[in-house]
Amino acid sequence: MDTLIPPTIDVHLTSGDLRAAMEADVRAGLTATPKQLPPVYFYDDRGSRLFDQITRLPEYYPTRAERSILEAHAGDMVRAAGADVLVELGAGTCDKSRVLLDAMRDNGCLHAYVPLDVSDTTLWEAATSLSESYPGLSVRAVVGDFHHHLDRLDAPGRRLFAFLGGTIGNFDPAQRAAFLSGLVEVMCPGDRFLLGTDVVKDRGRLVAAYDDAAGVTAEFNRNVLHVLNRELGADFVPARFAHVARWNERDHRIEMWLRSLDTCTVHVADLGLDVGFGAGEEMLTEISTKFSLDALGDELEACGLVVDASWVADDDEFVLTMARRP
Ligand code: SAH
Ligand code: AVI
Repeated sequence: MDTLIPPTIDVHLTSGDLRAAMEADVRAGLTATPKQLPPVYFYDDRGSRLFDQITRLPEYYPTRAERSILEAHAGDMVRAAGADVLVELGAGTCDKSRVLLDAMRDNGCLHAYVPLDVSDTTLWEAATSLSESYPGLSVRAVVGDFHHHLDRLDAPGRRLFAFLGGTIGNFDPAQRAAFLSGLVEVMCPGDRFLLGTDVVKDRGRLVAAYDDAAGVTAEFNRNVLHVLNRELGADFVPARFAHVARWNERDHRIEMWLRSLDTCTVHVADLGLDVGFGAGEEMLTEISTKFSLDALGDELEACGLVVDASWVADDDEFVLTMARRP
């Protein structure tokens, strides 16, 4: 029987780095018009737990849809990829990764798993649990930022880079282009890229997925204010900000905003910054872009990738695409 290999963790993003980035992002975002914050700051421990709850909500279909595609086709995917190392970007709790890891193990080609995430506690807990579940598997967790650290994911063997959950939809078009071109640069011949993307669909269904009846997504959205209060000494009153989820038809994306219910001034002590909000003023906290199958293929190819195959959920509600560099 294979022995347990303890997981390792490489930290490419220290709490000091994260803090410096947060200071710059928050200063720029709160002084912009409209005000905005990057979604990476949702994911402290509480935010990661709230996201995990979102994935189980009846209205939030993407996780179930993507899991169903993986369960039906993971064998084909891993055979097509021919990889023995699974690298996962924004891995979170690594839940769905188990379906790919099982398929790689059944295919006799499972050597290493390299999950990357900015949320260190969630990543470490997931890495520990995975190395217990897969004796003989080398789990090398990487604390890093997928916008900056794609070149820190070296591993001996052929790599399958998985970017699941539709997280690429949280990037704006310029971030997507930079991310995809950066990925092509670090991919070696033989490496493969497996991308999960959500698909444009009925607007009511989309909005409901981001505005659930139980209010979990609203709490997730407001969590960024708790993070700023704790980390930067801000004095947001989260209960005075309403969660707004809206479909933007032109840019085919859900947008999450926080709407100030009152006129107020927020003091961000660590930045020496006072920020005024008008009653009803909205701050953009996340975009979640939805794709059409054709546009997605064109975008991947424009960034230098070649699409080999794609798999969709039964009613075309989510798609997994396998690509390589030419
Ligand atoms: N892949 C998982 C989790 C998606 S949630 C799934 O499909 O369910 C998005 C994940 O990306 C979170 O775990 C969050 O911590 C991580 N994340 C967000 N911004 C990041 C960044 N800039 N760099 C690395 N990870 C990031
Ligand atoms: C992580 N990401 C793909 C999620 C999404 O659907 O855009 C984040 C999320 N925001 C609200 N609900 C889920």
